[in-house]
Amino acid sequence: MSIHIGASEGDIAECVLMPGDPLRAKWAAETFLSDLRQVNSTRGMLGFTGTWNGHPVTIQGSGMGMPSLSIYANELIRDYGAKRLIRIGSCGAMQAHVTLNDVIIAMTATSTTTPSSTMMREVNFAPCADFALLRAAVAAAEAKGTRTHVGNIYSSDTFYDERPDLTEQMTRHGILAVEMEAAELYSVAARHGAAALAVCTVSDHLQTGEALSAEAREQSFSDMVEIALTAAFP
Ligand code: HPA
Repeated sequence: MSIHIGASEGDIAECVLMPGDPLRAKWAAETFLSDLRQVNSTRGMLGFTGTWNGHPVTIQGSGMGMPSLSIYANELIRDYGAKRLIRIGSCGAMQAHVTLNDVIIAMTATSTTTPSSTMMREVNFAPCADFALLRAAVAAAEAKGTRTHVGNIYSSDTFYDERPDLTEQMTRHGILAVEMEAAELYSVAARHGAAALAVCTVSDHLQTGEALSAEAREQSFSDMVEIALTAAFP
């Protein structure tokens, strides 16, 4: 057991998928994994381990935002030996050519700050994806025919952001979408020698105000889980 994860030693697979929402973790595990068992319920942050095509996989909720994700990513890697961590989540599009349901594969994640950033002093560390996972995810998305964009995303601490000028500068610099976890996942993984990737579905658009319906969210979430699993075991 670790402080925030009640799993026993050996309960967590080397490959972990991390949705923000613990109920999404349950849904994804029940939908995609066999030989399933629940391995965590501490604080309601559900985690499940099973197999996908014979490969052991854990799907563990991360909660919303980088401080929450940081706790789970640290404990999964340091206390349970997780080696490949893939965030699966939603994001808000920041470019006109990005549309609802598109998949964003984050090559790198920009932020104003992360739980890890103060330890780097004056250095602006560039959190980046593991290239092997990134390449495999792009191949999996292309094979499925999913509309996909690969590039820079913004990991924000502020869902209700009152800084339109900041959003404008991000958009001008080509940031594809905003979410709230990837930069810290990449930083924690880098620090402890693990591989990380974020695959996100566009659930809403900051410029048009459009948003996916609940049913459409489920379908696009399903495509994203398949891309992540295929990337983990190419
Ligand atoms: N902002 C931050 N995180 C998000 C958004 C958003 O607009 N949409 C989905 N995740």
